[in-house]
Amino acid sequence: MKARVRVWDLPTRWFHWALVLSVIGLAITGNVGGLWIEWHYRLGQFVMSLLLFRLAWGVLGGHWSRFANFVRGPITIWRYWRGQTPPAVGHNPLGAWSVLLFLALLSTQVVTGLLSDDEIAFYGPWSALVSSDWVSWATNYHQNIGKFLLLILIAMHLLAMVFYAVVRHKNLVPAMVHGDKYLSPLTTASSDTTARRVLALVIWLLCAALVLWTTSLS
Ligand code: HEM
Repeated sequence: MKARVRVWDLPTRWFHWALVLSVIGLAITGNVGGLWIEWHYRLGQFVMSLLLFRLAWGVLGGHWSRFANFVRGPITIWRYWRGQTPPAVGHNPLGAWSVLLFLALLSTQVVTGLLSDDEIAFYGPWSALVSSDWVSWATNYHQNIGKFLLLILIAMHLLAMVFYAVVRHKNLVPAMVHGDKYLSPLTTASSDTTARRVLALVIWLLCAALVLWTTSLS
């Protein structure tokens, strides 16, 4: 017998889809350039607030959103790959590392953006705080390396969704929309009460305030 179990709480889903829309917006505004660079900057600040929020939610969030409940070591990944572990409830051991890679690459992209200076129309608020060598490294990474690494990771992420749907007959996307999966009724559910959603909103507002403060330092 299977029951509907909450796996992704609303804050995690909100984080995911806000991130998807922001990354699309960043790609468009970054390529169009001109006055749109202002929006590129604002969206970058927004993504930074989302990333900080997700780090906090990885400790305080619903059961399956906590890093401790999905990040696993190489031996478990190897056993998962060989089909020797039970099916994952949240992120599988391999997917968990792609989540961490997403957070790391997006953070690097945001930080290098804040350190960038394209010497035409835009300089990041942190570019005055470091040496010109750092600024040119960050600008080069942001414009020529980081965005392609992210594109590769996003393509792999989408291919993984297709792989799971077609080969494993598991569509992972609906759970990221409504939050639930059909699992054993004994499965631990992620708490997703109104109080926890309010807590998430407060944490995100604090993260947004921190971003606004740190990006207005120079
Ligand atoms: C810019 C594009 C995207 C980025 C940057 C992105 C990033 C991420 C991240 C960081 C997570 C981990 C969520 C968390 O635990 O907080 C995730 C999970 C997930 N994403 Fe995306 N995503 C993108 C596009 C998409 C799209 C278009 C879909 C649907 C077609 C999708 C479906 C999913 C699903 C189903 C999961 C959960 C996977 C699992 O069950 O382990 N993503 N994504």
